[in-house]
Amino acid sequence: MQLIDGKSLAKKVQSTVSTEVAQLKQEKNIVPGLAVILIGDDPASHAYVKMKAKACENVGFYSITHSMPDTISQDEIIATIEMMNGNPRIDGILVQLPLPKHVDTDKILEVIDPKKDVDGFHAYNVGRLVTGLESFVACTPLGVMKMFEEYHIDVKGKDVCVVGASNIVGKPMAALLLNAEATVTITHIFTKDLKAHTSKADIVVVGVGVPGLIKADMVKEGAIVIDIGINRTENGSLVGDVDFENVSPKCSYITPVPGGVGPMTIAMLLSNTLKAAQGRI
Ligand code: GUN
Repeated sequence: MQLIDGKSLAKKVQSTVSTEVAQLKQEKNIVPGLAVILIGDDPASHAYVKMKAKACENVGFYSITHSMPDTISQDEIIATIEMMNGNPRIDGILVQLPLPKHVDTDKILEVIDPKKDVDGFHAYNVGRLVTGLESFVACTPLGVMKMFEEYHIDVKGKDVCVVGASNIVGKPMAALLLNAEATVTITHIFTKDLKAHTSKADIVVVGVGVPGLIKADMVKEGAIVIDIGINRTENGSLVGDVDFENVSPKCSYITPVPGGVGPMTIAMLLSNTLKAAQGRI
């Protein structure tokens, strides 16, 4: 069993981004800029946004965090995004999810200029991804593909089971895998027999937020298991969606939690923001 070390791969990606930022500054006097919109006071969202801002600082980006109370109106959020769309110093706009209940998330995401949509959530980019065209791709699934590349795991022709069908993770993950010529099954909360699907798969990718969902009898011997779940237990420790202790001995490769997919999400956000800045005209 080999661990897929997301922490060190994320560092490697960040170091490449840093080098390219310095080059962009020197050659074109461009400093990549990321604007993050944070609404309300969800502690997890605040923690993620802080980590994103710190990562931006580390690679030499210009970054701003625009915080708003959860009483803010949808129109005010839209006006803020429109202002950022028109700001030439801002290459990437990220609206931290989830949004308060009175706000229509789909509507908000569609206001972001697709060229600044570094989260890859705009329907324009999702449509281009599904079509196999160049696009911004959601950071977490993009980070998983980067892990496959780094560990020379070729998904072509493999049976892959993606557990979870969210717009942020499961659907773009499945699209990327399909584009890479894997045979993809997507399971979700209404799937009748999850084990029947996971136990046949060469690769299982799970991101649903249910601690210990994937158990040892649900994966085949030699499988590759990618755990996107990040769950906080009652004693405060972080665990994924996979029963790591019992599943890992059966795997050829597995990602740990923490230190697996998590750090890759931020690394790919930096990479996407750099790409947006490189596309400035
Ligand atoms: N909430 C949970 N994950 C994400 C993410 O990748 N991007 C944004 N914007 N919000 C999130």
